[in-house]
Amino acid sequence: MFVVSIAGSPSVRSRSGVLLDRARRWLNGRGVEVASYQLRDFPAEDLLYARFDSPRILDLVEQVSRADGLVIATPVYKASIAGALKVLLDLLPERALNHKVVLPLATGGSNAHMLAVDYALKPVLGALKAQEVLHGVFAEDQQIAYASGDSPERLDEALERRLLDSLEHFHGALARRHRPHDRNLLATARWSV
Ligand SMILES: Cc1cc2nc3c(=O)[nH]c(=O)nc-3n(C[C@H](O)[C@H](O)[C@H](O)COP(=O)(O)O)c2cc1C
Repeated sequence: MFVVSIAGSPSVRSRSGVLLDRARRWLNGRGVEVASYQLRDFPAEDLLYARFDSPRILDLVEQVSRADGLVIATPVYKASIAGALKVLLDLLPERALNHKVVLPLATGGSNAHMLAVDYALKPVLGALKAQEVLHGVFAEDQQIAYASGDSPERLDEALERRLLDSLEHFHGALARRHRPHDRNLLATARWSV
């Protein structure tokens, strides 16, 4: 299975990035290959001037087309998703997420805008024809502590549990998505189709 992850925060030190990194490590542990992209990988001018032919954008489009699923992380900015993430998603072809499963992750200063993913990100993923957009995970800043000194970053217990549940769900959705194409499975099936 192959997944593309997109870190939607423009910040170098990023709490939504911490969630995404956890997700990436968990998926790797399950044998899922993950290609990781960050907003900062893309030249700002390519994003601002909507350069559909930018080599970086074309590379992302190619990887997304190969992917079974995506994990997309965003901070909440002004009650919505990060503007630069929207600009990046605008550069994907119209059916880029056809047949793909998407797990959204978001962080915000408080839970006042915890529905931002539902009203600001999910419609965009729908417009890109995502097959299945999972419920996802929203975390408040206070639930994520950055690494410092010898201590690794820490998620509070409830958040850790929610993230693991979501990842299990995502992994299951990726596996279901794979099955219809698995010729070996059909060849060895003991039921008729
Ligand atoms: C420009 C800006 C706007 C923000 N607007 C909101 C907001 O409307 N609601 C909210 O809950 N948090 C808001 N925040 C807080 C961030 O969502 C929060 O700190 C988030 O975890 C940042 O994610 P990051 O560390 O991955 O960049 C804002 C932060 C910035 C810098």
